[in-house]
Amino acid sequence: MKLLPILAAVGLATAQTAAPYTDAKSGITFSAYVDATSGYFFGISTPANSTGGTDFIATIGGKGTGYSGASLGGGMLNKLLILAWPNGQNIVSSFRKAAQYGSPAVATGTFTQTPIANGTYVNSTHWTYTFLCGKCIQTDGTTFKATDAQPAIGFALNANAPAQKASASASVSKHTAQGQVKLSLKAAQHKDFEVWRTWAKREETFIA
Ligand code: HEM
Repeated sequence: MKLLPILAAVGLATAQTAAPYTDAKSGITFSAYVDATSGYFFGISTPANSTGGTDFIATIGGKGTGYSGASLGGGMLNKLLILAWPNGQNIVSSFRKAAQYGSPAVATGTFTQTPIANGTYVNSTHWTYTFLCGKCIQTDGTTFKATDAQPAIGFALNANAPAQKASASASVSKHTAQGQVKLSLKAAQHKDFEVWRTWAKREETFIA
């Protein structure tokens, strides 16, 4: 029997939907938060035996030309944020962090994003960016922990594209919807993770 992701909503900003999510092109499966109204989604996929691991595969996307953001620590402040938006047929993405409310600055650290090409595209229904999030589980309180059963993940979106959308460090306007959802790490586990991980390639050129 397949385990279904358990996802409980703790924010009230938009309607929250619990959903397993499979990327149509790559076939990678995620434990995900999907908002049918806005088109926003964020999901993670982890190794079958992920205890103590630091890496996962993430997917983030939406519809239209606005941005989708996620907080790996739940809230906005002093947490590791992922921010992405489409730019034509490309996706622009960055890590961000903010000590105060306002457009979060680009964050640098040991964490990395390595794109998975067959899960990264813009089509007539949505845009999606799939990547290996390397060392994205940190121990300094900025992200969830590998031992968390159901960490809170933050989401934030705005239907408007950033003004400087070709630049990964572009400043953005405040989200028009935000909140937190609980995402089951157990449901994110998949036996094919190690295969999917090998699809991540740094030399892909579609990330600005
Ligand atoms: C100019 C840009 C931004 C401003 C002014 C801003 C401001 C705020 C404020 C004031 C809140 C508290 C809730 C509220 O009063 O609305 C909040 C929550 C939040 N923001 Fe931002 N934000 C910005 C950009 C971002 C970005 C780019 C991300 C993600 C990549 C993000 C992620 C979040 C999350 C996850 C929450 C928490 C929601 C919750 O705890 O329920 N924010 N933000």
